[in-house]
Amino acid sequence: MAKRCMLHPLTNELHGARRIATVITMAHPDWNARYAEGDLPWDTGKPDEHLVKIVDGGAVKAGRTLEIGCGTGTNALWLAARGFDVLAVDLAPLAIEKARAKAAGARNCLFEVLDFLAGKPEGGPFDFVFDRGTFHVFDEADVRARFAERVAGLLAPGGRWLSLIGSTEGGPRDTGPPRRTAREVLASIEPVLELVDLHADYFETMIEGPAAMAWICLSRRRAVDAVPSTRR
Ligand SMILES: C[S@@+](CC[C@H](N)C(=O)[O-])C[C@H]1O[C@@H](n2cnc3c(N)ncnc32)[C@H](O)[C@@H]1O
Repeated sequence: MAKRCMLHPLTNELHGARRIATVITMAHPDWNARYAEGDLPWDTGKPDEHLVKIVDGGAVKAGRTLEIGCGTGTNALWLAARGFDVLAVDLAPLAIEKARAKAAGARNCLFEVLDFLAGKPEGGPFDFVFDRGTFHVFDEADVRARFAERVAGLLAPGGRWLSLIGSTEGGPRDTGPPRRTAREVLASIEPVLELVDLHADYFETMIEGPAAMAWICLSRRRAVDAVPSTRR
């Protein structure tokens, strides 16, 4: 069972549970090998609490949905059970194999092997795009920008993207998810999408260690283009 840990907002200390964090130390991990080895510290086996909060809070409505880097499919299946019509993709064939095994009999949830940066998911445009720890794995700014552009190009009018991203907040640590600044996140996303909400929180994961902080980033397809910064 995944543990829930609470960070005190001011002291950044944990209450009520041991410290847990994701360990992703390889710069360019062989994702399929990690699934073969069961080296999946991010895979809590339960729906991400930020996703649950945002869906239950009504910030995202059930509709045509794409999950990018779905891993073993827990979040995709949770969305499908709530009436979302989900296409979930992952680069790693073994992740998709595991997800399909979990999905046996599930309705409205299709799992496909796809490199999101190389191929176009079928069945768009999408009302909702979700990724938990996929956008953040790319170290190069131009690749993250390309990722955001591709999401923007797949969103239906009014469509939203929720991305859960490792954060540079939270103090030094040797392990845990990749770390991005808020400026880096916005440098990719703001040129192509409208920011709805960006706030700091933490990742719920399986590994003991320093708490891994996260950016919870919700953006949407622009209804009108952003205007340039003013000069008065
Ligand atoms: C940190 S894991 C998170 C998995 C899942 N979202 C979760 O929270 O359990 C990142 C996932 O992104 C996938 N991934 C990495 N690059 C990808 C790409 N270019 N296209 C699709 N998936 C990718 C990996 O195979 C891996 O499953």
